[in-house]
Parts: sequence; C-alpha cells; structure tokens
Amino acid sequence: MCGIVGYTGPREAYPVIIKGLKRLEYRGYDSTGVALQNGGLKVYKKKGKVAELEDSIVGKDLHAHVGIGHTRWATHGEPNDRNAHPHSSASGKLAMIHNGIIENYAQLKQELLKKGYSFKSDTDTEVLLNFVEDIKTNNHCSLEEAVRIALKRVVGAYVILLLDEETPGTIIAARKGSPLVIGIGKGEHFLGSDASPMLEYTKEVVYVNDYELAIIKPDELILKNLGNETITPYVQKLDIELAAIEKVGYDHFMLKEIFEQPQTIYDCLRGRLDAIAGTITMSGIQQYSGQIMNANRIVIIACGTSWHAGLVAEYIFEELCRINVEVEYASEFRYRNPVINKGDVIIAISQSGETADTLVAIETAKAKGAIILGVVNVVGSSIARVSHGGAYTHAGPEIGVASTKAFTAQLAVLTMIALKVAHDKGSIDKERYMHLLNELHEIPQKVSKVLESSEHIKRLAEKYKEASDALYLGRGYNFAVALEGALKLKEISYIHAEGYPAAEMKHGPIALVDENLPVVFVATKDSYHEKIVSNMQEIKARKGKLIAVISEGDDYTAALCNDVMVVPEADEILAPMLSVIPLQLLAYYIGVAKGCDVDKPRNLAKSVTVE
Ligand code: AGP
Ligand code: GLU
Repeated sequence: MCGIVGYTGPREAYPVIIKGLKRLEYRGYDSTGVALQNGGLKVYKKKGKVAELEDSIVGKDLHAHVGIGHTRWATHGEPNDRNAHPHSSASGKLAMIHNGIIENYAQLKQELLKKGYSFKSDTDTEVLLNFVEDIKTNNHCSLEEAVRIALKRVVGAYVILLLDEETPGTIIAARKGSPLVIGIGKGEHFLGSDASPMLEYTKEVVYVNDYELAIIKPDELILKNLGNETITPYVQKLDIELAAIEKVGYDHFMLKEIFEQPQTIYDCLRGRLDAIAGTITMSGIQQYSGQIMNANRIVIIACGTSWHAGLVAEYIFEELCRINVEVEYASEFRYRNPVINKGDVIIAISQSGETADTLVAIETAKAKGAIILGVVNVVGSSIARVSHGGAYTHAGPEIGVASTKAFTAQLAVLTMIALKVAHDKGSIDKERYMHLLNELHEIPQKVSKVLESSEHIKRLAEKYKEASDALYLGRGYNFAVALEGALKLKEISYIHAEGYPAAEMKHGPIALVDENLPVVFVATKDSYHEKIVSNMQEIKARKGKLIAVISEGDDYTAALCNDVMVVPEADEILAPMLSVIPLQLLAYYIGVAKGCDVDKPRNLAKSVTVE
C-alpha cells in the first residue's frame, strides 16, 4: 500500500523526502509526488516511479526545509499525473497527501460543487482537502481546527499530511486506519508510513493512533485527539537496524528474507519457548489463555499467505487443544454478518497489521463481544492496537511483497499458542508436549539445512520456468503448504498455479494432467503419507511431471518423481515450517529466471490497506 513521508527541520527537505519515498517503494504504488514549502508551495508529481519523478524535476527549485512526499496506490481516480499526490487546494495555499479511502467523498464533493468548487483530479483526497479549506475559510479558523472539524465528518480510512502557506515549517498530520510514524530528531521531525524513511536519522519514534492529530514543527511536536485534548506522545526506541531494511548482499529482499528464516524463527521463539524447563511464556496471550481454553470456538481471520498460516493453525489447534476452529477470509467474514458468540476467540493474523479487510473484520467481531488476539509482525500497527492481546512474530521488516519469513514466524507463534493452551488445558500429555517443544526448538537449524539445497532448487527452476500452469497438492498440514506454494509461484512468476487437497484430484482437476503439467506434491513423512503416495502414482500413470517435497531418506517416494526437494524429518505439526521453504525458493528462482520484478510483482502491494 502507498507511502507517506514528511520532514521539517534544518536539513534540505527534498533529499530526505525523496530518499524516504525510495525506502517505501516496497509497499507498492503507481504514482508519486512531493510538495516543498519555501515561502510558497511547490508541488511536483507524476505517474510512475520515484526515480522518474526525480529525473523530471532536475533543475527545478527544490530548496526548502519542510516538505511532504507520497507514493500512491490508486483507489479513486486512475493512476495519472493529475490524480497523483500531493494535491493543492482551490486557493493553492494548502497541499495534502493521503493514504486510505474517504468513503463519503461523493457526498462531500456534491456539497462543495454546490458552493462553486471545481476539482482538478478524480480523487477522494482532493475532495477532503477542499472540504478542509472550505471550513478554514468559512470558520476563520486555523488549519489544525479545520482539520479537526472536517475529520469528524469523514467516513473512511486516512493518514493525511498537510502544508499551509500561512504556517511555514509546520506539518499537520492525522490518522485513522492507515499507519503514521513520527521520528523525533534534534530540532527536526520526520514522518513516514513506517520507520524506514527515518531510521538513518533517528530511532526515537512515536506511533500515532487512530483519531489523533499532530502539529509538527522543527522543534515541537504536539499530539491531540479530535476533541482537541493534548496527548503526551509515547516515544519508543526502535531496535530495527537500517541494514534490516537493506538487502545486505542478496539480489532481492525476497531472497534475503527467505534466508533469514532460521534467525527469524529463532527470534520468534526466543524468550518465549524454554525447551529445557518445558515452558512457553507469551505475556500477550497469558491473560487470555483461560478464554482460549474454554472457548467454544476459535475463529481465525486473515488474508492471503496469513490465511494459509491460519489453515495450518486450524489443524494444529483442533489436534492439540480439541477446540473447534474456523478459518475465515477476512474479506468474506466482514460482509456476511457472521454469527459471533460471546465465548468466541478471534485470532487475527497479519504481517503488516494494516490489511483493511482484516482490520474491519476484527472490528465486526469485537463489536459482537469476541476476544481479539492479534498475530502481527509490525509493532504498533493498527491490528496490533485494536486487538485485546496477542503476540508479535518478530520477523523484522518484510520488504518483499511476497510474504515468506512472516509466514513461518506466524506458524511458530501459532504453534506456541496452541501448545501452551493444550498444556494448560491438559488436552495433550506431558510427553507429547515436551516432544513437540523440543522439536519446535530444533526447527531453526532444520530450516538452515533446507536452505543448503538452494542451488539444487535453482536448477529445478531453470528446468520448469517455461511452464504455463502448475498444480500444487498436499494433505493435512501440508494442504495449506500446497496452497501457499501455489500462491508464491503465481505472485512471483505470474505462472498460473493452483493449490488443491491431493485427494480432491479425482473429483475433477485430474482432467488437467498431461505430460506438460508440472504437479508439485508436498509429501513429507506424516500420517497421510501412504495416501499421498497413491495420489502421486495416479498422476504418474497419466504422465504428469512429478515434483515433490519429501523427507530425508524417503527413497521410495523419490523414485516415483521426476525431481525432488528434500527437507529434514519433523513432527507433522511442525513440518509446514520446513516444507514451505523449497516452494518459496522455487517460486523465487523461477521468477528471477523469467525476469520478473520479484520484490515488487506487478499489480501487487505489500500491504492492502484499501478494501
Ligand atoms: C502474500 O505473499 C501476499 N503478499 C499477500 O497474500 C498477503 O499475505 C496478504 O495481503 C495479507 O497481508 P497481511 O499479512 O499483511 O495482512
Ligand atoms: N484514495 C486516495 C487516492 O486514490 C489515496 C490512495 C492511497 O492510499 O494511495 O488517491
């Protein structure tokens, strides 16, 4: 989802802003622009990449000590130069950037049109900007007050930054439903959709909450609520290194993040899982473990890869905790008036913590009395803040649009929650609990072992990169891995890939099988193994190209296949954290071999903060 950047202080604003926008490119966008204030306002914006904007304004007057910048992901008005942000108000005295959707913009636009306003763009943003200016003009009030009044009428999600010719050096910001971070410098302030644009300047940040408004000057930060009450900013010290944002030697963020997984899973377990003492400590879950244990139902809500993690969790929770679990697409759940009973526990899974559908689905369930537990990667994100409790996945910034390390971290967290609940509930015996705890503890080094086969998988990618379609099949815990492997291939290489329960093949899809179709089986040793080998033989009999993720030493299954990707044995409950790795690598190497933009695939955004 698009990005916002702001700066006010003694530095030249333009270099800070343009560099900040580049750090946010991973979020996905279609156009970009900056507004600089030095006396008057100068706005430069266009469809396309940040580098193209940069090239287009070489030689222009870029001197300023305050400015705002934006990368747009269009929701209202096609991607083009005039719909790009920043927008200028009718008077030209205000400039604004916005991330989100103003849902009642049409009504506001009608009111403004009746007052004689005209619009240069098709966006909801320009409507909001002129709505603010109309209030400022008619009420003879400050920009801050006009924003406060306007936002009380706004329906939708926003983070907005505004500049006003009348108050040089000052940025007005407000948010609801879209992220905003303020970096605290010495005599200067930075703003961003996340911390990446400011990390090289400061690690002291304030995460602005919904319905808060900030007045930012070089040496002053005032935080207020929409009721005009001053709020004391909560300053956090970040422990993210800039290197965590950079690719550190890998060709792409996605590859870096795949190879980070031994460390990120370890970071996820650290301080929580004690395999010797046999304890799992998760403070954000602890206080709700009673509600989870006694829940008549757990509803898991998520989108995309996070939904796949939820599917694995369904099997784990039902197996270990004997609690009924349902996994819901957030986008379906929120619109269908779901039945939510008071004793229900919602687990919301989200890497970004900003996915609009998941956020609204949570609000729907919360309003019906459910307990909300968030499994989120981004600290201080919206979903983290609206949840009653939960656990961070501590996977660090995930820059690649395709989610990889966040997925395995989600599985690690969800497994720990299930193990803790099962232990407290007594639904598994001590021996099995300790076995799984120790196996979980060993997962990071087993992931390292899988990554040693990356060159082999790169060769497989060369062999299969011309495929036009692919089937991914699995059973049980590996069914969700098959879905995830198919999603990775689709979103990275644009090859049509479909994930399916292996046993479902005979109910139709097996008609697709011929000598050209690669069929990827996730067939690690587990309680479904015998059955899935039979499914493999069915495909082989129809000349399908058999590729399989198999357990070390499984020579029998290997003999059936054209190619295999080997992972260490592990308990079937934990196997997805291993069996997904080769599929992440396969998708990555095929995407690279096909010359795809693997970190920023076409049409995709890292965080879908619009519905
Ligand atoms: C996965 O590779 C995709 N990037 C996408 O499906 C993603 O998982 C989905 O949009 C959910 O995002 P979230 O985890 O940030 O909520
Ligand atoms: N809704 C605004 C537009 O379409 C902002 C979209 C965004 O978040 O980039 O311009």
